[in-house]
Amino acid sequence: MNRRVDDPQAAIPAWEPLSPEVLADQLGTYDRQRIACALARSPRGVTLFRHADVVAAAHDPQTFSSAVSARRAVPNGMDPPEHAPWRALVDSFFAPAQIAALEPRVRAIADALVAALPRGTVVDAVAEIGRPFAVRAQTAWLGWQGIEDELLAWMAENHAATRSGDTARSAAVAAAFDEIIRRQLRRRRTPDQATSDDPTTALLTATLDGQPLSEADIVSILRNWTAGDLASMAAALGVVAWFLATHQDVQQALRDRPQDLALAIDEMLRIDDPFLVNRRVTTHAVRIGEHELAAGDRVYLNWTSANRDEAVFGDPGAYRPEQNAPHNLVYGTGIHACPGRPLATMELVVAVEALLKATALIDPAPGASPERETYPLGGWRRVPVRLR
Ligand code: HEM
Repeated sequence: MNRRVDDPQAAIPAWEPLSPEVLADQLGTYDRQRIACALARSPRGVTLFRHADVVAAAHDPQTFSSAVSARRAVPNGMDPPEHAPWRALVDSFFAPAQIAALEPRVRAIADALVAALPRGTVVDAVAEIGRPFAVRAQTAWLGWQGIEDELLAWMAENHAATRSGDTARSAAVAAAFDEIIRRQLRRRRTPDQATSDDPTTALLTATLDGQPLSEADIVSILRNWTAGDLASMAAALGVVAWFLATHQDVQQALRDRPQDLALAIDEMLRIDDPFLVNRRVTTHAVRIGEHELAAGDRVYLNWTSANRDEAVFGDPGAYRPEQNAPHNLVYGTGIHACPGRPLATMELVVAVEALLKATALIDPAPGASPERETYPLGGWRRVPVRLR
């Protein structure tokens, strides 16, 4: 279709988020895009870069629907009014008492992992700390035993499939994951192997409107807890470890005041948010500034860019935990804001506390360079630090 020059849609600049140039510097590209224009269009959809637009879209599910995929996703892919009761069910798994009860087990995992790390030599904070910690904490929480390696391999394939844009490959990856989960459910349905008090078992006995959940919905809930969580937790630890290693004044302040860790970690993740985007689809034509999106346009809310918007944060790289907290979008906003945030925060705080307690200094490993991660993740792929 030819568009007139004064057609607002024609004015949305083009970009290719998966081009080698963008992948080589996602953060820098987002910073430049955000300043040049509020949005950009690629064959995958329209990306929103600015804080105000991302927040407005996240708070308007009537216009920006989360039903982006044919596959049912509980509760991620749901809109009002269907979303609310499912979301209430999911929230009940992240209540303060449950997080507090889990904390000692997560602490034991973190302490053991850190104690086994070598001192004075290169440690990759993503591969040797972030990923194993995320998988061990997650499997301990869900009561899944003996599948750590399988989950790690699945995580890598899941990202490769997302990056490829190949829907058949993504469907195969989703099916493989569903099978991992179904095995866990079968194990719990075998009376002599039933485990009584983990969240996986609780989902099998949970009800919504007086009805038990279907196996497909249980699998979907567990998929969304695991698929998004493992990778973002591992990447988040990489970002935090690199920030600490390269900001020793902040590292020392947090050694002195570990009670500040939760706010500090949120701010480190705001500066370099590894959880890049979430998708929406427009239900009708909508104006964003001087641009117009058509009904059915695919939209990406770019949290990483919005979290660095100069209009809200001033210098995006300046570390100001208290001042920036009210505007921080690392865990999203609106009805889909992350229900797992209390769990994620507890796990990140406990892991960093363990690292700080067991060391006198964390610094960048001499002679080794960090490597950036690429879409669908941000942050670092490799974070070479030295523990002393
Ligand atoms: C550093 C770690 C994490 C980050 C940065 C993160 C980030 C986010 C963000 C930005 C959203 C909003 C999605 C949207 O608006 O479409 C979200 C939603 C969600 N997150 Fe997280 N998350 C993290 C950890 C977790 C954990 C630990 C869990 C569960 C175990 C979890 C489960 C979910 C679920 C189920 C949703 C969808 C909620 C809904 O649709 O109502 N996340 N997360």
